[in-house]
Amino acid sequence: MTQSYHHIRQNYGKSGLVEKDMPENPFVLFQYWFDQALKDELPDANALVLSTVYQNRPSSRIVLLKAVEQDSLVFFTNYNSRKGREIENNPQASILFFWPQHERQIRIEGQVERISDEQSESYFVSRPLESQAAAIASEQSEKIKDKTALIRSYEHLLKHVELIRRPAHWGGYQLKPDYFEFWQGGTHRLHDRIIYEKLMQKWQISRLSP
Ligand SMILES: Cc1cc2nc3c(=O)[nH]c(=O)nc-3n(C[C@H](O)[C@H](O)[C@H](O)COP(=O)(O)O)c2cc1C
Repeated sequence: MTQSYHHIRQNYGKSGLVEKDMPENPFVLFQYWFDQALKDELPDANALVLSTVYQNRPSSRIVLLKAVEQDSLVFFTNYNSRKGREIENNPQASILFFWPQHERQIRIEGQVERISDEQSESYFVSRPLESQAAAIASEQSEKIKDKTALIRSYEHLLKHVELIRRPAHWGGYQLKPDYFEFWQGGTHRLHDRIIYEKLMQKWQISRLSP
């Protein structure tokens, strides 16, 4: 049976994007929107959809934004996971934020690379011991028969905390954007879409039709 969702209709129009107000550097606007999302305590404000591509086939999953550097966005994961393997094979990836309460979407594209071991280490040890143990116990993205071995390994680690150390295959990635699109919902579907493209180390700003 087909279920229709045609009746779901949201009206947008909270605020607009005007060219003259756009900062030269998209990170400034990103930080401004992200800070507003945090200030308003939007649920999972730092959750982003990360898409990677392997042999022309895209795959997406949520990860959490853990740092904004001068020219990159940082998240943490298992380097041996599906996303890790896909990134190592093809570092081109995209990131998507959706903050429905603010009628905002940000699309970001760029190259991904590993952050330094020192940076990964300092984040790993800042996590609760339970999260550290889970990161060690889980061979992320591998097929498992059930959760028994996983839970046994996790509990063993928490009983022997001296064994808890960051595995070399767990750490951070940073995406260095060369493309941003800021989408702000407008009235009557006349949404604002402002893009930033990095060309010869300079950001070019354009507007896209909604
Ligand atoms: C709200 C939320 C936050 C998540 N945060 C992370 C994260 O920061 N890092 C991570 O590796 N997986 C995170 N996950 C799990 C991923 O979505 C995904 O299941 C996992 O990374 C395996 O993906 P892969 O098999 O494509 O590598 C999160 C999932 C959700 C729903």
